[in-house]
Amino acid sequence: MRCTFCENRAVLRLRHANLRLCPEHLVARVEKEAQRAIREFRMFTPQEKILVAVSGGKDSLGLWQILTNLGYRADGLYMDLGIAGYSVRSREFCEEFARERGLTLHVLRVEEEVGAGLDEIARVLRGEPCSHCGAIKRYLMNRAALAGGYDALATGHNLDDEAATLLGNALRWDLEYLGRQYPVLPAGRKLVRKVKPLIYVSEREMVAYCLIRGIRYIYEECPHSVGARSLFLKDILNRLEDQYPSTKITFLKSFLRVHPLLPAPEEVELRDCPVCGMPTAAEGPCRFCRIKERMAQRAPA
Ligand code: AMP
Ligand code: FES
Ligand code: ZN
Ligand code: ZN
Repeated sequence: MRCTFCENRAVLRLRHANLRLCPEHLVARVEKEAQRAIREFRMFTPQEKILVAVSGGKDSLGLWQILTNLGYRADGLYMDLGIAGYSVRSREFCEEFARERGLTLHVLRVEEEVGAGLDEIARVLRGEPCSHCGAIKRYLMNRAALAGGYDALATGHNLDDEAATLLGNALRWDLEYLGRQYPVLPAGRKLVRKVKPLIYVSEREMVAYCLIRGIRYIYEECPHSVGARSLFLKDILNRLEDQYPSTKITFLKSFLRVHPLLPAPEEVELRDCPVCGMPTAAEGPCRFCRIKERMAQRAPA
């Protein structure tokens, strides 16, 4: 199988883009697609300072590499969630990546910030661990980006992630969530702009990109994500994609086209959390402070 653009052997076939790519052209395409999204949605400029949230997985470490190669000024942030084994291993991949490239990596430990890690939080609090985890991560990422004076906070959500989230929101016709699902969320008071530069890049492309660029990353999924609805939705989309190539990219791009027609998400008035001072829609302490307080009151294990 020859590359669509040169004489070299293709290592990846992308049916949805009608391309067969050699390593060199695959890298070029991935970086071009990221650049396309950055420009199309005006995510940030080369003069701005970006904080990339890196989990140790292929998407976020790949994104950090892409932004660096494209000439953006990007530092990393790793949040050690305190998940036995998994957190230590994923942290090592992030540290190794930053060290080898001479990049700056900030590290935050949830155990230090909340007084307990995710395993403990999952044991003590009711509800989905991933939901508590998401709230904690969003809070810490934003706080770190603000404190560091970053202009934008970038995450590694790829095409497969975004299409699965979209399917989940569409199945519920959740207009509130659909309205907020967008590749860039503008900054607000004490809220840093959030961006997802990999929305046009599929998971398979990111795996190949990391392999070619020599990026080592953690393969395991978070142990708390077993049985998560998002994984099920991804599987359904993969089966659709097998039968009908382009399903995911068409689904997402068509959504982004009609997005302006959705009712604007309700303006919620944000106040300052009386405990930490960060913005919250809640009356009283923000969700992060409430989790922290509930963990402080827990009975010893
Ligand atoms: P997930 O919610 O696990 O699918 O991750 C989505 C994105 O959030 C990743 O691509 C990262 O950019 C970011 N992220 C997830 N976990 C972490 C973490 N422990 N530390 C820093 N960033 C993270
Ligand atoms: Fe947060 Fe798994 S990464 S619960
Ligand atoms: Zn080629
Ligand atoms: Zn608070």
